[in-house]
Amino acid sequence: MPSANPDKAAKGSSAGHSSVLLNEAVRFLTEGERSGCFLDATFGGGGHCRALLEAHAANRVIAFDCDPEAIERSAALQQAYEGRLTLHHRNFDELAEVETGPLDGALFDLGLSSYHFDTPERGFSFRFAAPLDMRLNTEEGMTAREFLETADHEALVTAIRNYGEETRWRAVVDAIENARGTERLSDTLQFASLIESVVGQRRVQGRAPIHPATRSFQGIRIAVNRELEVIETALPVAFERLKTGARLVVISFHSLEDRIVKRFFRRMAGRPEHGRDNRPQQDRVVRGRELIRKPLRPSESEIAANPRARSACMRVIEKGELS
Ligand SMILES: C[S@@+](CC[C@H](N)C(=O)[O-])C[C@H]1O[C@@H](n2cnc3c(N)ncnc32)[C@H](O)[C@@H]1O
Repeated sequence: MPSANPDKAAKGSSAGHSSVLLNEAVRFLTEGERSGCFLDATFGGGGHCRALLEAHAANRVIAFDCDPEAIERSAALQQAYEGRLTLHHRNFDELAEVETGPLDGALFDLGLSSYHFDTPERGFSFRFAAPLDMRLNTEEGMTAREFLETADHEALVTAIRNYGEETRWRAVVDAIENARGTERLSDTLQFASLIESVVGQRRVQGRAPIHPATRSFQGIRIAVNRELEVIETALPVAFERLKTGARLVVISFHSLEDRIVKRFFRRMAGRPEHGRDNRPQQDRVVRGRELIRKPLRPSESEIAANPRARSACMRVIEKGELS
């Protein structure tokens, strides 16, 4: 595990993870003299957290991360900002159970950090041979291997078709069900080659080809960590805790996450949540205003410096008086 390094975290690159849209997120959260108590729901390498603490001497951060290694990494930051950072080793869907008091801002920087992709034994990457784990919280829950061995047909379809958006989902689900009880579901490389054998190489015109297992890995990871459900649970709680005028910033990394964020923000802004939402306007309640209509994406220079930032998109909502 890379060691904590507060100097690197200050620049948004905490030993192994480059914080995405760092300046933009912190500016939206703190501009106009906004200071006080912030929620960082996804501590990761602590880059955003540190920038929030640096933004104003009076700032405090209540942070969450469900990954025990992220908690270990926070030691140096906790020491450097003694008494100003409280870190909870919990899933952010448990926010309702944690006392925070009214918040001056909240940040969700969703998904995985570079530590997850670059640490072979976490089992998120088919670049390395490792047990198929994929849990963010390695202290509880089912590993990806256990999920693949035991999930019913419907849960596998949901993971591969809905969460992975794999067009050849039938072939992948069949292959998983047929491989049960063999070694092929036990480690990353064997599982990736099983998928490759049924999906084949894929070329998307005008884009670099992606590995045939990319989509299935994403879908299984989302299922194992309940990544979408937890966002649905946590966003309303975080929004509720904001003071009037405080902002909620969410950075997401794929369209399934962003759809949940978009719909929630529109609902809070009193706008139709999607194209088929034709409720009369008097049935809506305006609780806030979106500060950017189109999600903000990283600049070309950020993507050049950190290619993992390329799929990021950020949305911001400011809580208003109840109308
Ligand atoms: C993209 S990284 C955050 C990086 C961080 N903003 C930084 O600047 O270093 C996401 C982090 O959130 C954590 N995480 C993801 N989903 C979570 C959840 N539901 N509850 C708590 N932590 C979660 C992951 O373990 C990971 O460390």
